[in-house]
Amino acid sequence: MLDFSFCNPTRVLFGRDMFPQMEAHIPVGARVLVLYGGGSVVRNGTMARVLAALSHHEVLEFGGIEPNPSYETLMRAVALVREERIGFLVAVGGGSVIDGAKFVAAAALYEGDPWEILETRGSKIRAAVPLAAIPTLPATGSEMNGTAVITRGELSTKRAFRSEHVFPVFAVLDPTLTFTLPPRQIANGIVDAFVHVLEQYLTYPVDAPVQDRFAEGLLHVLLDVADVTLAEPENYDARACLMWAATLALNGLIGAGVPQDWSSHLIGHELTALYGLDHARTLAVVLPATLQVRRGEKRAKLIQYAERVWGVRDGTGDEKIDAAIGLTRAFFERLGFETRLSGYDLGRDDVSALLKALERTHGASYALGENRTVTPDVATAVFGASL
Ligand code: NZQ
Ligand code: ZN
Repeated sequence: MLDFSFCNPTRVLFGRDMFPQMEAHIPVGARVLVLYGGGSVVRNGTMARVLAALSHHEVLEFGGIEPNPSYETLMRAVALVREERIGFLVAVGGGSVIDGAKFVAAAALYEGDPWEILETRGSKIRAAVPLAAIPTLPATGSEMNGTAVITRGELSTKRAFRSEHVFPVFAVLDPTLTFTLPPRQIANGIVDAFVHVLEQYLTYPVDAPVQDRFAEGLLHVLLDVADVTLAEPENYDARACLMWAATLALNGLIGAGVPQDWSSHLIGHELTALYGLDHARTLAVVLPATLQVRRGEKRAKLIQYAERVWGVRDGTGDEKIDAAIGLTRAFFERLGFETRLSGYDLGRDDVSALLKALERTHGASYALGENRTVTPDVATAVFGASL
């Protein structure tokens, strides 16, 4: 096992009746800004419940945060936080709203140009307005981590930052808030969480059976619950299961002490930045191609994944790897995902734009992934395998 330092400071209030407990975790007298997205939380009654639970605080609202939250919109929220001397943020929505609130929290107290936060990946953040997260879409794990991904339209770029200062103080995980999600978004959540686990699991062995078994457990749960939660949106137990699995998939626990890849995510971000694909849709294209191209360096864990997650017992190592990649692709396709660029009318001509975008984001001689082997040549091969 690798050395690690692990701390997750986010309190989780989990269940169908936890809203009344949240105000106790917000400083008395703090002016609160509630941030939300395009209005789903207003229409489905979540907002009214949040406001009722904050009745002892002075509350302002900021709506309109888009999927793949935009820097330009968030800077308007930053101005509001500064003008109104806001002391606490509450993000109500999907990962985009929670990520957006993290950026607002850090940018409001940042000395200098806030875009620098993205350029320096959060390393210069020294303080942030405290925030809480009320996720309405189980997917990103943003409610219990210190990461955010922000899009800047005028630069066609999507960038991540992380900082200990933007971990939510608390997260209210109420599975009933997800009942109104359209199937497309639930499927996105399942695939995003599944790939989060794989980015931390499918690397190379470091003798870390605790992390491996946690990761395999989460993958099994996601496979078990996928069909039920899609077919029965108001099945509380299934949604509770999905919600907790998605949170645990990216709250730092399974990634502590093991190598991590994340190259499928970073390549996928360029597909969203250039062509607007949903985040999870990018992963369903890039991950199978990545596993195919990099099967040599991931060989031992791919065989372990085939045996323990997909129950593939027979065949040579290569046959097991083929089966695992095929079953992963088939799982995504069963959930309604295209797993090739051609499914989005993208082809060879678009690959050069994607490669240039990767260079703009990571520099001309980037080297991504757990072994720093995902260079421009390997990224070219990954796009080639995803056509
Ligand atoms: O905007 P509203 O009207 O709220 O509608 C949203 C949005 O259109 C809708 N929605 C959310 N909850 C709903 C609902 N509709 C009905 N009922 C509900 N209960 O869903 C749509 C998509 O929302 P969004 O927040 O964009 O989705 P998601 O949670 O998948 O977040 C995606 C963003 O998170 C980033 C992605 O890059 C992307 O920008 N990620 C963040 C990560 C992190 N912070 O750790 C890690 C991830 O890998 C990911 O990169
Ligand atoms: Zn993701």
